Amino acid sequence: HRHLLGIEPLQPQEITTILDLAETYVALNRQSDKHADVLAGLTQINMFFENSTRTQASFELAGKRLGADVMNMAMQASSIKKGETLIDTAMTLNAMHPDLLVVRHPHSGAVDLLAQKVNCAVLNAGDGRHEHPTQALLDALTIRRAKGRLHRLNIAICGDIAHSRVARSNILLLGKMENRIRLIGPPTLMPSGIAEFGVEVFDDMRAGLKDVDVVMMLRLQKERMDGGFIPSEREYYHRYGLDAEKLALAKPDAIVMHPGPMNRGVEIDGTLADDINRSVIQDQVEMGVAVRMAAMELLARNLATGAAV
Ligand code: CP
Repeated sequence: HRHLLGIEPLQPQEITTILDLAETYVALNRQSDKHADVLAGLTQINMFFENSTRTQASFELAGKRLGADVMNMAMQASSIKKGETLIDTAMTLNAMHPDLLVVRHPHSGAVDLLAQKVNCAVLNAGDGRHEHPTQALLDALTIRRAKGRLHRLNIAICGDIAHSRVARSNILLLGKMENRIRLIGPPTLMPSGIAEFGVEVFDDMRAGLKDVDVVMMLRLQKERMDGGFIPSEREYYHRYGLDAEKLALAKPDAIVMHPGPMNRGVEIDGTLADDINRSVIQDQVEMGVAVRMAAMELLARNLATGAAV
């Protein structure tokens, strides 16, 4: 592949290859010298049209640790504010010969469109409610390390599924790796036609969590609710917030995940989120740097060999 736009086009073996390479970077990132030179001489531009803490910071660190020249475009201060379009902005940067373009955009499909116009490799850092492929890959690496495998697990994805690119990419990835996926949330936050993805749907947390190996919580993504129904946070926490009592229905060694940013006391109890015996939330952040290093290295190798899109 020339780009990483989503999980959809990836084969299971390609997912395993990314995760195996990322493992080597987990080890490197734990050393005092975190440098490798595999992107030396290459230019990476990060364009975030939507807020980010984890994804932006980890892509920047990943590029720097691999020796690339990394530039973060301050989109709020760019000529987008003067009416320049996304494509004109991308073409302007393309003329400066970047090798890797990392893009987050609020509109689903915007990153795919941009990738068709530029000459470099494009990595999707999250587009609308469509895909967030590196998040699903870092979640997969976290699960594989915690559970010792990435197949035949019962995995619950809970909360605002309808507005979540994280859920969509995870459903695709975890399905390709032959896991059993349950989606748990209020019917108003469940996308229509979701059963086609081979998942089980629950609106009752206690029923859905029974005997699962992995519990993945999601934030209420109000910024994508377009003026639609927004549940009261108090009521939502009571019914769908993960706390120790609801988690007790899962397997005794079930892990708790959250892509962040999390809202304590809305979708998850703060004490549970901090419980290192159950929560792997900080491991997810650590895996994010390693997975992004692996993804960029593999795309850079394809650039060098001129591999097709
Ligand atoms: N998980 C995630 O994408 O977090 P950020 O929005 O902080 O990048």
